[in-house]
Amino acid sequence: MDHFRYQYGQLYAESVPVDAIADAVGTPLYIYSKTTILDHVHRLREAFRSIDPLLCYAVKACSNLAVLRTLVGAGLGCDVVSGLELERAWLAGCPMEKVVFAGVGKSDDEIRAALDGRYSPLRDHASELAMPDPAGRGVVGVLNAESRSEVERIASIASELGVPARIAIRINPDIDAGAHDHTTTGRSSDKFGVPESEAAAICRDFFGHPHLRVIGLHVHLGSPIYSPTPYIRAIGTLTTLIDRVGAEGTRIEHLDLGGGIGADYETGQTPPFEVFADAICPAVRHLVDRGIRVALEPGRTIMGNAGILVVGVRHVKRQSGRRFVICDAGMNALIRPSLYGAKHFVWATRVEAGREPTERRFLPPSGEPCEVVGPVCESGDFLARGVDLPEVRLADRLAVFTAGAYGMTMASTYNDQPLPAEVMVAGDKVTIIRERQRPIDLIAPGIAHRGVAWQAEMAR
Ligand SMILES: Cc1ncc(COP(=O)(O)O)c(C=O)c1O
Repeated sequence: MDHFRYQYGQLYAESVPVDAIADAVGTPLYIYSKTTILDHVHRLREAFRSIDPLLCYAVKACSNLAVLRTLVGAGLGCDVVSGLELERAWLAGCPMEKVVFAGVGKSDDEIRAALDGRYSPLRDHASELAMPDPAGRGVVGVLNAESRSEVERIASIASELGVPARIAIRINPDIDAGAHDHTTTGRSSDKFGVPESEAAAICRDFFGHPHLRVIGLHVHLGSPIYSPTPYIRAIGTLTTLIDRVGAEGTRIEHLDLGGGIGADYETGQTPPFEVFADAICPAVRHLVDRGIRVALEPGRTIMGNAGILVVGVRHVKRQSGRRFVICDAGMNALIRPSLYGAKHFVWATRVEAGREPTERRFLPPSGEPCEVVGPVCESGDFLARGVDLPEVRLADRLAVFTAGAYGMTMASTYNDQPLPAEVMVAGDKVTIIRERQRPIDLIAPGIAHRGVAWQAEMAR
């Protein structure tokens, strides 16, 4: 599952004690295991080998450049949902033809940069960042369009630039994948995609357009998903649509089934990749045989178990029959528990012999229940509630497991808390891949804008 293990009462990231890393780097701190990342990629690829899908890593799950370089180096493409995610993918060395660009509300500038690197927002910074000029990088592989209005914008910008835009239409198949309400995306009441009838009409209306070609269909049902059933239902809908638009001339060559496969938040919660692959591969076999390339956009399932958040204990207090363990980070570093009621297993990084967890699963508290909370001024600021936890003291550390996806990318500076550091471990090698945010980097932008003339005008 992953390479975070207890040995003789100490938590290790691969071959390095987590406390040794925290001693050197401080907390809060994200630690990623490179071996776990590559292991997940290998297993995913093996499971889906019979259809050889284009694997486009969902950058939003964890967008650290070192993580992206690892995944791009392993041959993955990237699924991006904003202009800057696109730039990160490119900086990580991802060939543009392996990028799929989704997102329900892309700006004109983002579309322009996706179609022509001369419009990259990083172009003016190429020498300062010691990066190649993005001008000649070419067009992204596929732009996933989510509305007729967006297709019209893409067509208009592609015409203005004189470049060919290849698009996939995101279908909203009205399937409830059973994820949290905020992360279920394939119901008709959700903002994403268009119904099949609208997609067919778009294909018809843009058929033969000189600068825009509908080459694919896209679906992303939500996340996390713990069973292949919703994918199979979506494939049924998409197959019918492929035949329908095909009869009217639009040849679909790219079928993007999105991401969503769960991470193992509790031991055994997510079935192995084979369970998904054994259902999905036969269901798309006939499409693959017709020359259609299947794409997948995994994020969480690669990165979730590949990362932990390490926090330091600042205070312990007992109140109202509960033990509050107050840590140096909470919802600011990992918002999933507060935002989605997500359950992340939390345990001390160093425990007495015999107290190492055998599974990542909270048992009913043996004594008083523990509230693992952060320093933020909100009652909703917690990492785990009402859980069993070993006795901990000031300056001990806790590991929050399965935090590698949607952890750092959703972290905020609320209450002026600097963003955590990030490190990558590979065997016994530890690399700081992002420094802890410095207080000056939080404060400086406001200082720099003091006295701008238009502010004075508006104040009058
Ligand atoms: C369009 C799209 N693709 C892929 C993903 C990745 O999902 P996951 O990390 O669950 O694989 C998301 C997540 O929100 C998404 O919106």
